[in-house]
Amino acid sequence: PSPQVIRLEAERTAEIVALAAGRLRAGELVGIPTETVYGLAADATDGEAVARIFDAKGRPRFNPLICHVDGPEMAADYGVFDARAERLIDAFWPGPLTLVVPLRPGAAAHPLVTAGLDSIAIRWPRGIAGEIVTALGRPLAAPSANRSGRISATRAGHVVDQLGDRVSLVIDAGPCPVGVESTIVSLLEDAPRLLRPGGVAAEDIEAHLGRPLLRKAPGATIQAPGMLASHYAPRVPVRLEARNVEPGEALLAFGPAPLPGQEKASATLNLSASGDLVEAAARLFDGLAELDSVDPVAIAVMPIPQHGLGEAINDRLMRAAAPRPEREI
Ligand code: TXA
Ligand code: MG
Repeated sequence: PSPQVIRLEAERTAEIVALAAGRLRAGELVGIPTETVYGLAADATDGEAVARIFDAKGRPRFNPLICHVDGPEMAADYGVFDARAERLIDAFWPGPLTLVVPLRPGAAAHPLVTAGLDSIAIRWPRGIAGEIVTALGRPLAAPSANRSGRISATRAGHVVDQLGDRVSLVIDAGPCPVGVESTIVSLLEDAPRLLRPGGVAAEDIEAHLGRPLLRKAPGATIQAPGMLASHYAPRVPVRLEARNVEPGEALLAFGPAPLPGQEKASATLNLSASGDLVEAAARLFDGLAELDSVDPVAIAVMPIPQHGLGEAINDRLMRAAAPRPEREI
């Protein structure tokens, strides 16, 4: 069965919000736009619906989900927020920042959402997702709407391609403006820790906290899904830090300077000809998917600076290029 796909038009917002909330209340999955990527959403208090998310994505159940709320008030029913959290919420919500905080005892989130942990990841997204949460009256558990390990969905068509038989409704709001997932910061220790670089630059968070974020977890346990080494993978191999183009390769370019052999590339896509990292982030997943679709020998990727949103872009690219576990492709 293919899902109902509805284009989000401003004058129909109320009707579409009500439709989505109805499907979610019935335990169905809905593909929702956020400012970062499309999410595969379920009512976070409905265990059966949340279980369907894991099943649809082929996602390991030890990997917890983000709870999407409609503001700090609902957030406080699910997590425990201290003064540092409040400072970050004031600065960045609604927006692409997820906070990992202690789970509030008695919180109504189903334990599958948190994978049984005593912490919870919470964010307030921009746009219609927050309005759907308000209409439902409960948070939405929503991972990125891609099959586990694959390229994240930044267009409604990506959701339909990867998960079309699993969702009842996809709301098409066009391409996601940020284009990479939210930044995840853990506030479980005295020192705030960056678990995943994302749509808010780590430097901006550090400026608001007045201290640097810790970057590396002690020990080798998985703290965020990104830590599964291979993720965001196109079908074809990815070669990073390319200084040339090999025959048969496609080129993911960045900046104004051409690369030796570029004219031989089977396809070329420039993330940002002017070298703008915000623009590059917005085009990253779509660009990877587009080059993947021409079936090149590999995708060669030009070096991307590591500051600002470059940290999130390079994180995704490193995982896209990581050795892949044996599996069906
Ligand atoms: O931008 C985003 O964050 C998107 C949109 C849909 O909101 N969502 C997203 O979800 O990227 P997902 O499931 O693909 O990534 C959620 C990440 C996972 O890496 C998970 O391990 C981590 O959040 N996470 C969730 N709960 C956690 C917790 N209690 N402690 C540590 N990490 C947690
Ligand atoms: Mg994901």
